[in-house]
Amino acid sequence: MSSESKTIFSPQLAARFDALVEKYPVRRSALIPMLLYAQDEVSYLSDAVIAEVARRIGITELDVRNVASYYSLLRFKPAGEYNIQVCTNICCMLRGGYEILERFREELGVDPKGVTADGLFSLEEVECIGACSWAPAIQVNYDFHDELKPDLVPGIIDGYRSKAKAKGKNKNA
Ligand code: FES
Repeated sequence: MSSESKTIFSPQLAARFDALVEKYPVRRSALIPMLLYAQDEVSYLSDAVIAEVARRIGITELDVRNVASYYSLLRFKPAGEYNIQVCTNICCMLRGGYEILERFREELGVDPKGVTADGLFSLEEVECIGACSWAPAIQVNYDFHDELKPDLVPGIIDGYRSKAKAKGKNKNA
């Protein structure tokens, strides 16, 4: 499939995918990067995303789903504009990870796997995100925040609200 063919992705991403599948000796090796880029653009792995990625690589939709289901960073449901992943694995747990999670829950008014009514935030409890030396840590989209204390949580949320306003994306603000 070339970028001129019917696609659900932006022309830029479609062109990127065209280049990506040619880069690997085995097209299937492009699967995970494609799913991550698709998720960044579409917010989650919808049926349409899975169908197009499968077509581009030349594998079945079931193959795509089987692989994607192994990766906790890939989602099959829409996330908020800012997806907050709170680590509660051992290092973070010992240094207050659950207190951080609880504070996000209170401040956002959603449980893990929930999305705020304005669609701005989603909350997830996750396994190690590789920042153990700076526990407790969270990841918001691709940003890391570490050595957290519960009292820092409102400021982090406000920071992203301001960012969304600046981008003109928080329609409920
Ligand atoms: S245990 Fe939390 S980042 Fe590793």
